[in-house]
Amino acid sequence: MLLVATCAAVGLATTAALRHFLVDRLDQQLAESGGRYAASLEHTGHGAGPDTRAQTPGTLGVRLLGGRVTAAGVVDGDADDADGPDGEAGPDGEDDRVVFTAEQQHALAALPVDGPARGLDLGRVLGRYRVRAVAGRDGDVLVSGLPLRPAEDTVDRLETLELTVFAIAATAAGAAGAAWVGFSLRPLRRVVGIAERVGALPLASGEVLLAERVPDDDPRTEVGRVGAALNRMLGHVGDALARRHAVEERLRAFAADASHELRTPVAAVRGHAELALRHPGPVPAEVRHSLERIDAETLRMGAIVEDLLLLARLDAGRPLAEEEVDLTRIALDAVAGARAAGPEHRWRLALPEEPVLVCGDEHRLSQVAANLLANARTHTLPGTEVLLRLERVGGQAELSVTDDGPGIAPELVDRVFERFVRGDRARSRATGSTGLGLAIVRAVVRAHGGAVAVESRPGRTVFTVRLP
Ligand SMILES: Nc1ncnc2c1ncn2[C@@H]1O[C@H](COP(=O)(O)OP(=O)(O)OP(=O)(O)O)[C@@H](O)[C@H]1O
Ligand SMILES: [Mg+2]
Repeated sequence: MLLVATCAAVGLATTAALRHFLVDRLDQQLAESGGRYAASLEHTGHGAGPDTRAQTPGTLGVRLLGGRVTAAGVVDGDADDADGPDGEAGPDGEDDRVVFTAEQQHALAALPVDGPARGLDLGRVLGRYRVRAVAGRDGDVLVSGLPLRPAEDTVDRLETLELTVFAIAATAAGAAGAAWVGFSLRPLRRVVGIAERVGALPLASGEVLLAERVPDDDPRTEVGRVGAALNRMLGHVGDALARRHAVEERLRAFAADASHELRTPVAAVRGHAELALRHPGPVPAEVRHSLERIDAETLRMGAIVEDLLLLARLDAGRPLAEEEVDLTRIALDAVAGARAAGPEHRWRLALPEEPVLVCGDEHRLSQVAANLLANARTHTLPGTEVLLRLERVGGQAELSVTDDGPGIAPELVDRVFERFVRGDRARSRATGSTGLGLAIVRAVVRAHGGAVAVESRPGRTVFTVRLP
């Protein structure tokens, strides 16, 4: 842009200077020649031809007397063998005579005598002229003029040349500039590439390796400083992520160890409670009741410990069994189990014709179905209809559990898959609910590469599990 502006400025300046110079030269020529040619026109009437010698072709001579043109002529290009300008030959038949329009005559008459030269337009054929008037010897005014056309042609030629040269120069400079900018921005593109790659990394959880660094970190260049700053930032972020990962790992290990360690004592307490209940001697009723409570609660505690251990193992990415699992059988068994546990609910099953097979851990997948059905049983009223549907959707297996119960509270829906999230705490504790069921469902399904979703409103709650 700047280059184009500079070129335009230089072009305008040089053409203006050249025009000025050429016009100046014409004016000078006019001043030198005085009214020589115009004066010679006077004598044509007396037999002598106008003095065209040593006159530039195109030179105009006009003799004015009392503001009226008495004689006018133009020096022909072919010197003596004069051909007047077409259609403008004088009425007296002389070849180089010129007639003027009234307007032109007026302009000629208005020229200041012995004043500076002026520009004058003499129509289409003659073109524009520089004209100057001098006082003649016998009270007349002699006007001589030189055509501007040669000067204009020269200026035009210069303009064309300049335009061509500038166009080539601007194009070349533009291309070179673009190439240079592209070249000098290469390091910045590397920085952008690394920033984009890091931005695409899953930083939310798990172990993240931020090994990438910008190679250009020369502090003397701007790009280098950006690179160095980015490297420092990557370093800090990498450290923070590594620390977070270590804390996560420790927590996970703690949960796994704790639940593992709790298994044995919980089992032992339960064993002792059962032993005490089988004591043959007379046992007071309160003691028996307490022992029964201990037995029931340790059973529940054992289940929670098992759930926690399973979650800790899934968190740690422990590989699951990879066997062919018949989801149809799992669905049949799960509904049979649910029917036994909740005979007052109406259980329905919708299965496709062929068995639906997936690859995974049969025991864990059974747990998924059982947890969903248990929820549909425990969080709804007796008489609720529960439908377990199994189908094949676009190469995936889809298992859904639908109930027409009261639904999940809206503020809970988005969090039901989180650990220890459960509705109605008072009632939940009484029914032995911990809020781990759906967390396990999601962890197991994810470990299988699948996804689980929930949709709930009063009267219709659907949990959908998709497995590849
Ligand atoms: N089918 C359902 N209808 C209504 N509410 C539901 C349903 N399924 C789940 N919920 C709500 O989601 C909460 C979380 O369910 P989740 O299975 O994780 O825990 P829980 O059933 O309370 O306890 P746990 O399954 O560990 O014994 C439940 O407490 C309940 O409020
Ligand atoms: Mg549950």
